[in-house]
Amino acid sequence: MPFAHRGVGVSGADRERWDARHAAVGPGAPMPPDGLRGRLELLPGGASPTDRGGLPGGGRALDVACGRGAVAVWLAQRRFAVDAVDVSATGLAAARTLAESERVAVRFLEADLDAGLPVAGPYDLVVCQRYRDPTLYPALAAALAPGGLLVLTVLSEVGDEGGRFRAPAGELAGAFPQLETLDHREGGGEATLLARRP
Ligand SMILES: C[S@@+](CC[C@H](N)C(=O)[O-])C[C@H]1O[C@@H](n2cnc3c(N)ncnc32)[C@H](O)[C@@H]1O
Repeated sequence: MPFAHRGVGVSGADRERWDARHAAVGPGAPMPPDGLRGRLELLPGGASPTDRGGLPGGGRALDVACGRGAVAVWLAQRRFAVDAVDVSATGLAAARTLAESERVAVRFLEADLDAGLPVAGPYDLVVCQRYRDPTLYPALAAALAPGGLLVLTVLSEVGDEGGRFRAPAGELAGAFPQLETLDHREGGGEATLLARRP
């Protein structure tokens, strides 16, 4: 799991490490964001690919540190216009392959998030899961459209041993005072926040 070194940028070794990790696993499959499991009714536009009867879905979505594109493609299947960012060219290549095989369009962007969010929004949905950079939290909130939903899942010290890459207890609960919290869970080594911009 990466950590923030803003101004320095992700190192070549880190990038290669992520490329190797993405290369080591087989083809992925579209998946809903972990944080929305059991809460799919919160998804802007509805959860089903057919909820909109073929019309554009919940609007614009952003997947931050999208990895192999499972969430980005799942959202595109629900007719979101999806931007998806990651630093790993290997991860993004797998993501593009998944999007092609599922016949959906996603705008994939190769970018180092240590330099900040490379897109401005506004987005109706911002997802960031298993990538933690607290310095990015204000930009995630600012990228939301009014009424937009943030779905954030990070590794947590709660229910785990701790370590510098994990969020301390209460980090997500306190990090977004400008948003309305819909759900906050910590435990089992993970923390999740669902929050809406008023
Ligand atoms: C644990 S994976 C999570 C991927 C995806 N969000 C998921 O839930 O499956 C972390 C992702 O962060 C990406 N990443 C790490 N450092 C990054 C950085 N500085 N900028 C952009 N992406 C980065 C990695 O390439 C990797 O795809």
